[in-house]
Amino acid sequence: MVPRSLVVGCGAYLPRRIVTNAELAERLETSDAWITQRTGIRQRHIAAEGETTSDLATAAAGEALRRAGLDGADVDLLVLGTTTPDHTFPATATQVQARIGMTKGAAFDIQAVCSGFIYALATADNFIKAGQCRTALVIGAETFSRILDWNDRGTCVLFGDGAGALVLKAGSGEGVLADRGVLTTHVYSDGRHYKQLYVDGGPSATQTTGHVRMEGREVFRHAVVRMGEAVDAAMAAMGITGRELDWLVPHQANRRIIDSMGHRLHLPPEKVIVTVDRHANTSAASIPLALAEAAGDGRIRPGQLVLLEAMGGGFTWGSALIRW
Ligand code: ACO
Repeated sequence: MVPRSLVVGCGAYLPRRIVTNAELAERLETSDAWITQRTGIRQRHIAAEGETTSDLATAAAGEALRRAGLDGADVDLLVLGTTTPDHTFPATATQVQARIGMTKGAAFDIQAVCSGFIYALATADNFIKAGQCRTALVIGAETFSRILDWNDRGTCVLFGDGAGALVLKAGSGEGVLADRGVLTTHVYSDGRHYKQLYVDGGPSATQTTGHVRMEGREVFRHAVVRMGEAVDAAMAAMGITGRELDWLVPHQANRRIIDSMGHRLHLPPEKVIVTVDRHANTSAASIPLALAEAAGDGRIRPGQLVLLEAMGGGFTWGSALIRW
């Protein structure tokens, strides 16, 4: 029987410093009202000077492992979704690997921007299903503040820093756990749209780090359509409708996009996990941060059906359905 990827723990980390919309409005031509009305964002966490993506990822991973009752030595796969690695190389995942005491298997980064966590989850799930690992750490971690142009009000108000992690364990797919675990994952990309959301730097192209550039309206339009398609694919694969879902945990980019996805699935607002008001868009970290919050406070409970969806630069997009 093909093993199932069971979720056995999750964790999160947010940098201590909170920057409110009002604080941004002191140095930019913007306002709390504009940001809140267009995006639902009220504040974001920003990493301290010297605090890196691997610091955030290690803290989130540590909490996820503790909650799973495991330690780093038990892990044999670490997949880290990030667009803001500590260095060009090595992979930030290997730095986290060393810091959590993981001494076997493989650790690598995945770059799919805001879809990074779905891509990382799909990858780890497929390793488990193929029998190539037994215990996987799936992390989304970002210090997006480092690639923002803080003079561009059209982008800098939208993002924040943070990390979230899930521990997956191979299960037999039998007995009481038979219907639990990652049920289906779907990932897609279309590179023709890269100029609508990209970073204008990079080691090969410019030898600089660069800053986020975005055509907000176009991204918004594509996000609604593409995430809708990904959600439909997950539901069709399992033969279910939105009404059977317990929770939608969407990528947290914009409250209006989140609401439109909830609508499409006929879900009442109380079944949609929202953190964008407090975290802003933390790219690959947004879904695991939301999962850790909702599982931690008892909203998401074992046996419930949880749908994840995301879209990001590339464009990349995807979905995953988990029986928690
Ligand atoms: N404060 C005040 N005014 C602003 C700000 C700001 N922070 N940013 C832009 N404006 C102005 C613009 O300059 C423009 O002024 P003008 O009419 O005088 O030219 C006006 O507001 C309208 O600008 P638009 O970009 O057309 O505003 P829109 O209603 O599209 O909202 C937003 C912009 C919030 C970025 C929206 O397009 C959006 O959320 N898009 C999705 C982007 C996104 O979520 N990206 C994240 C990565 S991808 C993902 O995660 C899904």
